[in-house]
Amino acid sequence: MAGGEMKNLWIIANWKSNKTIKEALEWIEYVGPRIERRENLKVVVCPPFTDVEEVKKQVVVGNFPLMVGVQDLSPFEAGSYTGEEAATIMRDFIELAILGHSERRQNFGETDEMVAQKVKQALDHQIIPLVCLQGPETPVPDRCQLVAYEPIFAVGSGQPDTPDSAEQIAQVLKQTYPNLEVLYGGSVNSENVKSFVEKDNINGVLVGKASLDPEEFVKIVQVCQLI
Ligand code: PGA
Repeated sequence: MAGGEMKNLWIIANWKSNKTIKEALEWIEYVGPRIERRENLKVVVCPPFTDVEEVKKQVVVGNFPLMVGVQDLSPFEAGSYTGEEAATIMRDFIELAILGHSERRQNFGETDEMVAQKVKQALDHQIIPLVCLQGPETPVPDRCQLVAYEPIFAVGSGQPDTPDSAEQIAQVLKQTYPNLEVLYGGSVNSENVKSFVEKDNINGVLVGKASLDPEEFVKIVQVCQLI
């Protein structure tokens, strides 16, 4: 980076609806000891809700430099909302919440308004909201400082956007929202991660499929450790 300053690099594993508790703990056991503890390196694992508590315990016991997150949050406070996970309940275990993922928007009817409500819940309860933007036209909710540009064509397709296009979008977003950190997501793996994270305006990656395999995920982190 210009001036030799170290930018923050977020590497976020989005497991989606995958992994039993046993599989989750095996992943942590492999990945945890292999992550470097570095101020600017923020590695976050986002398991399904059912795994969160055990994953958090194992991270604490192992003293691993890993943060734990979730893939969604309730737009409401705790109360009579069947099936929802409130920020007030989750905040004991997590530091971050992925919000507004395209799979939630497409399959569960999530709207920009709901995403904004979820962001507010996260911020009110000291959880970092990471909002997924499907393009530069997706609104960035108030007070949100971390987003991932995830074009729908690139998610789960094996066809990532080009690093130049992602960089250009990150630059536009940062001009519009001055304190924003922008990640890229969509078919990131250990082969292509460098081309994204070496861009000046890209502060890391959101990784789906390639994060499920612990060895592949460690390779991704190791590439980032050299940036
Ligand atoms: P993918 O998913 O890496 O499997 O494309 C990314 C995401 O959905 O966050």
